[in-house]
Amino acid sequence: MSNETFADRLRKAMGDCGVKQVDLVRAAAGQGVKLGKSHVSQYVSGKTVPRADILHFLAAALHVEEDWLMNGDSEDAAPAENGALPEKKEKNVSGGNTMREFKKSSKLDNVLYDVRGPVVEEANRMESAGTHVLKLNIGNPAPFGFRTPDEVIYDMRQQLTESEGYSDAKGLFSARKAIMQYAQLKNIPNVSIDDIYTGNGVSELINLCMSALLDDGDEILIPSPDYPLWTACATLAGGKAVHYICDEQSEWYPDIEDIKKKVNDRTKAIVIINPNNPTGALYPREVLQQIVEVAREHQLIIFSDEIYDRLVMDGEEHVSIASLAPDLFCVTFSGLSKSHMIAGFRIGWMVLSGNKRHVKDYIEGLNMLSNMRLCSNVPAQSIVQTALGGHQSVKDYIVPGGRIYEQRECIYNALTDIPGITAVKPKAAFYIFPKLDVKRFNITNDEQFALDLLREKKILIIHGGGFNWKQPDHFRVVYLPRVGVLEQAAHKIGDFLSTYRQ
Ligand SMILES: Cc1ncc(COP(=O)(O)O)c(C=O)c1O
Repeated sequence: MSNETFADRLRKAMGDCGVKQVDLVRAAAGQGVKLGKSHVSQYVSGKTVPRADILHFLAAALHVEEDWLMNGDSEDAAPAENGALPEKKEKNVSGGNTMREFKKSSKLDNVLYDVRGPVVEEANRMESAGTHVLKLNIGNPAPFGFRTPDEVIYDMRQQLTESEGYSDAKGLFSARKAIMQYAQLKNIPNVSIDDIYTGNGVSELINLCMSALLDDGDEILIPSPDYPLWTACATLAGGKAVHYICDEQSEWYPDIEDIKKKVNDRTKAIVIINPNNPTGALYPREVLQQIVEVAREHQLIIFSDEIYDRLVMDGEEHVSIASLAPDLFCVTFSGLSKSHMIAGFRIGWMVLSGNKRHVKDYIEGLNMLSNMRLCSNVPAQSIVQTALGGHQSVKDYIVPGGRIYEQRECIYNALTDIPGITAVKPKAAFYIFPKLDVKRFNITNDEQFALDLLREKKILIIHGGGFNWKQPDHFRVVYLPRVGVLEQAAHKIGDFLSTYRQ
C-alpha cells in the first residue's frame, strides 16, 4: 500500500503540467468555480481534500483522472470535505463494517490562521527531517531568551498550592483589582471590578467576545492587515469580517474614509489593534479620536486589542481609545504574554468600560460564556498583581541599548537596505511588515514567496495574506532574535531576493 497522499498527487500533477497554485485559482475563477487561494494551499499542504465538485475541476484542469487524484493507485480512499466522495472504494473497514468518516465542521471552511498555517507546517516538516529553520513567524518571546522577571516566577511558586481550585469565573479578586488600577492609570472610564474578566490569554477573550456578539451575517470592521485571530473568531461566530485598510503611506494608521465607506446597518462593532501587529504602528490621539467619532455616529462597539501597550518605543505614549469614549461601550484587551514574556502561562484580560446601559444583554452573553469556561488559569492569575506593580522590567528592553529597541533598529536598517524592500519603521511591539517590489520580483503569490524563501534559505516568515492583507506584496518579520541572528537573516533574505523571480 502506497503512502502517497492526495496532496502528493496534486503537487505531482501540478508539477507535471507546470501549473502553480495561483494558476488554478485563476482558472477556477474563469470557469465560475469558487476556489480561493487558501483552499488550494490547504489542498497542496495536505491539510484538507476537496469536495467532489472542486475535485472534478482540479482533475480536469490538470488532465488527470479524478479517481487517481483522490485515491491514487492504491485502494485507499481519502476523506472529502463534505462527504461527497466516490464511494466505490470503501476501504476504511473495521470488522467488516465501513467506518464512518469524520470531517471538520463546515464552520471552519473560511477560517484561516496562517501564523501556524501551511508554510509553518512545511517548516516543521523540514525541521523533523533535521534542517535547522530560523523561525521568525510567531511573537513568542521566551525561545529567544527573553526571561520572565524573577519576581513573577517566585510569586507564582509561592502561590501554587493556593491556586489548585477554580477561581471566580471572571478571575481572582487580587488580579482583577490590579487590572482595574491599571485601567485607572490609562484613564479608562467607568470600570468596576465586575467589568474585568481574565482569560487564558487575550486569545480566549477575543473568541468569547465574538461568539457572544455576532449573529449570522452581522458585520464587524476589522483592520487589514490584522492579527488574524480577530477575523477567524468573527467568522467562526457566523459574523462577516469587513476589512478596513490601514494605510502604509500614513504610518499604517487606519484609513478613516475607508472605515466610513464600509459601515452599514449590519455593522455592530469596530476592532482596532493598537499598538499593531503586524505593522508595529502606534496610533496617535487624533486618529483614535476620529475612530471614536465614526463609532459614535454609527453606534458601534469598540474592541481595542492593546496587548502591546507596554512595548512602545521612541518615548511615545500609548493612549487607550476607551479613555476618549466615555459615552460609548468599549472593550479593551491586554495581558502579560508579551510585556512579561510569559506567553506560555496564558493570562490576559478584558475591561468593559464607558456606557453600558444599552449593552446589558450582550454583557449577559459574555457572562454566560465566561461562566461556561469556569475560569482562566489560576496560577497565572495569581501573579497579575505582582506583574503589574513595581518595576516594569520590559521598560529596559524598549530604550536605546535595550534588546527590543536595538533589534528594531537592526532589522529596519538591514531590510530597507535590500533593493526592492521598503518598510515603515515600527514604533511598538516586535514586528515589522515590509513591502516587496512585486514588479521587480514578479511576485503574484506571497505564500509561494514565503515557501520559496523557507526552502532556499531556511527562514520562516509569514506572508502578508496571513494577516488578511489582500495584495501579495508584504510579509511579517518577528524581530525577537538577537541582533547577530537578525543581521544574518536579513543578509540571507537579501541574497535570496537578488536572484528571485516568481
Ligand atoms: C494583537 C494580538 N492580540 C492578541 C494576541 C494573543 O495573545 P495571548 O497570548 O494573550 O493570547 C496576540 C498574540 O500574538 C496578538 O499579537
